[in-house]
Amino acid sequence: MYSSNQLLEKVNQALDNLVYDRQPQGLYEPIKYELSLGGKRLRPVLMLLSYNMYKEDVESIMMQALGLEIYHNFTLLHDDVMDRADVRRGKPCVHKVWDDNTAILSGDTMMVDSFIRMQQCDSTHLPAVMKVFSQTALEISEGQQYDMEFENRNDVKEEEYLEMIRLKTSVLLACAVKIGALLGGATSEDADALYAFGERIGLAFQLQDDYLDVYGDFSVFGKRIGGDILCNKKTYMLINAFERANKEQRKELESWISRTEYDPQEKIDAVTRLYNEIGIRELCDQKINEYFQLAEQSLQEVSLPKEKKSQLWNYALQLINRQS
Ligand code: IPE
Ligand code: IPE
Ligand code: MG
Ligand code: MG
Ligand code: MG
Repeated sequence: MYSSNQLLEKVNQALDNLVYDRQPQGLYEPIKYELSLGGKRLRPVLMLLSYNMYKEDVESIMMQALGLEIYHNFTLLHDDVMDRADVRRGKPCVHKVWDDNTAILSGDTMMVDSFIRMQQCDSTHLPAVMKVFSQTALEISEGQQYDMEFENRNDVKEEEYLEMIRLKTSVLLACAVKIGALLGGATSEDADALYAFGERIGLAFQLQDDYLDVYGDFSVFGKRIGGDILCNKKTYMLINAFERANKEQRKELESWISRTEYDPQEKIDAVTRLYNEIGIRELCDQKINEYFQLAEQSLQEVSLPKEKKSQLWNYALQLINRQS
């Protein structure tokens, strides 16, 4: 069995060896740019870790692992236009280096490319793999649409937020481990338990992303701190801040949310201060840990000896303390 670091190295090597030699360059350059900026490579590593619990020849599914990473990077190209974000992985976003049209079309091209790669899998598993992948792709769009609609709503409930992040983020992590398991020949019960594991890790992961968007360090996180506050994103933190605020705090929060003209840093500082006063940081920490514990339970349901599952679980544990 490989360690997650060894698998990460393999993924990065395979990405380095990717060739886009089609024309026009204007379509493919932004794709190469995005894929060259690094990132955690979480989804392909999860897929390979999951496959590796059943089979050793991880290279044989590298095409599908890359497909998933390319799909993820496609969502980022569009997400940064939608979220009005300028920086990702510490570098200017594609829509800043080029323009919105480029981010849209190069993004669409990556999506198609990811499907081309995914369907090159072994024919026995092809229908099951494409079923989960295409279903996941639809759900991500649904989650992203809810995310955008929630920006303009002030009555979003915690359950609605959780369902939104399940759709926009969790299902792709779940899909990664499920496809790895399917290709590795896992039983459908194991594949489903691993899907549930991925979903729960995914919920914790997006909660952490929202947390780091407020409390992270730009030089490590690589994205603008406070971006979600500026977009009035209905995160777990904002929803719970409203729920738990006293009268004055609620009034102040409401006034920042409804203001159309403000100094961006002033808004970020004020909302962060309110989060601190209300105790949102601790609450969010707890919720993240809760989902990691639930994920562990799902992994226990997978009918493999504990040693086989330890790489995947250790990788999940590394994520708990992530800063980027
Ligand atoms: C960013 O994903 C989008 C979210 C779902 C939060 P990652 O945090 O995995 O981004 P990279 O690929 O490591 O940059
Ligand atoms: C990302 O959510 C979800 C997808 C890209 C599908 P965010 O908008 O929070 O991701 P970041 O923070 O920009 O990476
Ligand atoms: Mg975003
Ligand atoms: Mg977004
Ligand atoms: Mg985010």
